[in-house]
Amino acid sequence: MPISRRTFLQMSGAAAVGSVWTRGLGSGDSGDASLCRKLASDPLRPQYHLLPSHNWMNDPNGPIYFGGRYHMFHQFNPSGATWGNMHWAHATSPDMIHWQHESIALAPTRGGPDSDGVFSGSAVLDNGKPTVIYTAVAPPNSSADATLRDGVHTWRETQCLAVAQDDALRTWKKVPEPVISSPPPGLDVTGFRDPALWHEGENWMLILGSGARGKGGMILLYTSRDLRHWTYLHPLIEGSPSKSASMNPVDTGEMWECPDFFPLGNRHVLLISTMGKVRWKVGTYTNQRFTPEKEGVVDWGSYYAAKTMLDADGRRILWGWIPETRPDTDLIAAGWAGAMSLPRVLSLSSQNELQTEVAPVAGKLRAGDAGNIDAVRIEDVAAEIEVHLQPRADDFKLRLYSDAGDFVSVSCSRQSGSRELRVNAITAPLPGPAGSPVRLHMFLDGSVVEVFVNETVALTARVYQIPSGPLQMKLDGSVKIASLHTWGMQPISRDRLTGSLCS
Ligand code: FRU
Repeated sequence: MPISRRTFLQMSGAAAVGSVWTRGLGSGDSGDASLCRKLASDPLRPQYHLLPSHNWMNDPNGPIYFGGRYHMFHQFNPSGATWGNMHWAHATSPDMIHWQHESIALAPTRGGPDSDGVFSGSAVLDNGKPTVIYTAVAPPNSSADATLRDGVHTWRETQCLAVAQDDALRTWKKVPEPVISSPPPGLDVTGFRDPALWHEGENWMLILGSGARGKGGMILLYTSRDLRHWTYLHPLIEGSPSKSASMNPVDTGEMWECPDFFPLGNRHVLLISTMGKVRWKVGTYTNQRFTPEKEGVVDWGSYYAAKTMLDADGRRILWGWIPETRPDTDLIAAGWAGAMSLPRVLSLSSQNELQTEVAPVAGKLRAGDAGNIDAVRIEDVAAEIEVHLQPRADDFKLRLYSDAGDFVSVSCSRQSGSRELRVNAITAPLPGPAGSPVRLHMFLDGSVVEVFVNETVALTARVYQIPSGPLQMKLDGSVKIASLHTWGMQPISRDRLTGSLCS
């Protein structure tokens, strides 16, 4: 289960967020040698997913292809392995798979509108100039000013702009005052954050994650000629009142975080994050209003705050934050938390449902293919598995195990007339007629397991188990293997991406 903001805050004891800023270890700083050794040899730390050298990360922010390189920014706490003190960390890649850390891109400015945190946002090219708009948080001047109240914090959220000062996107200049300083008048918002942007005719359009107290989640739509002066139009879409109650409106679905909105095929797609899941809606966008026709869940497991970009070939790429599911004390002991999902290519099915598959470029990492099930030996929990199954009944179980027990099991069963997929303790509905083929695609990387079934179901599991040796594979049930490939995966660094802390 992704951890809700409230849980993050409770877990991190984050009352100090915003008041105590400690200096982070950016590139070039030399870290503590024993911490470096521990992080670089931690078998639970992924070897081919992007993650910071140490400490806490959450949402992807402003991913953009610029100057022949991919730039990924993400929420980062330079002072600890739990949520708080939000900055934008920065990493670059030639191919969306091999990453190198850059120094921190955006940090809170003392006395500024982002004095308590640089929250999530997006990047665009403004006449070729990389520009970001992000949510800034600061103490409210009065309680009427507060837009974020989650039972732990009371903050004023405003939208701020920064422009890159160099082509490597290493230094950014902030516009000192917010470009959107308060919610539309008369709206009792449950939150006001996470801008996403696109260009429409002569205008820029911007959406914000929000909600109306007692009425439901809401996406607010704005327009501008110059990215600096914004006019509120109307809600792009509104949800409905929640049936449950909580101090944190994100937990009840009355606050929609991290919206993203883009054309795909002959439809538009809206992504929102709420109640621990990323939800997609596919529909039509006319007269600047969105009418959904289909909806679903982007990933049924440990996955949140997804955000897209266009790659060099114009494909729509989805990134998501893979949260931890273990307690705070374990995060602090480990010294790191969170990873970025592999890049996923989005498309629409013939039924206009959202489909995801890992970008083919991940195939660059493949090492030898085991060929048959009895020969499978997965070393260091780094593998890609592609298996096409022809079930005779909807009842099978694929296990990856060592003497330490099952590492991951993927099973299918019938539950009240429909098929259900289960990956360890996480379940998801598996669409398709009874007994229809199952194409299973899995990526194992330390404690991260990304699972895709038939392009329509995605599920990210976390497994905090250290196998006793190479993982072997077993398949039970009334099922035939139509094809099987199991590749080892090459790490993207020699030190589990700790280099910028340790070298
Ligand atoms: C989603 C989120 C965003 C916010 C950011 C703060 O995980 O809560 O709404 O901008 O994280 O870190």
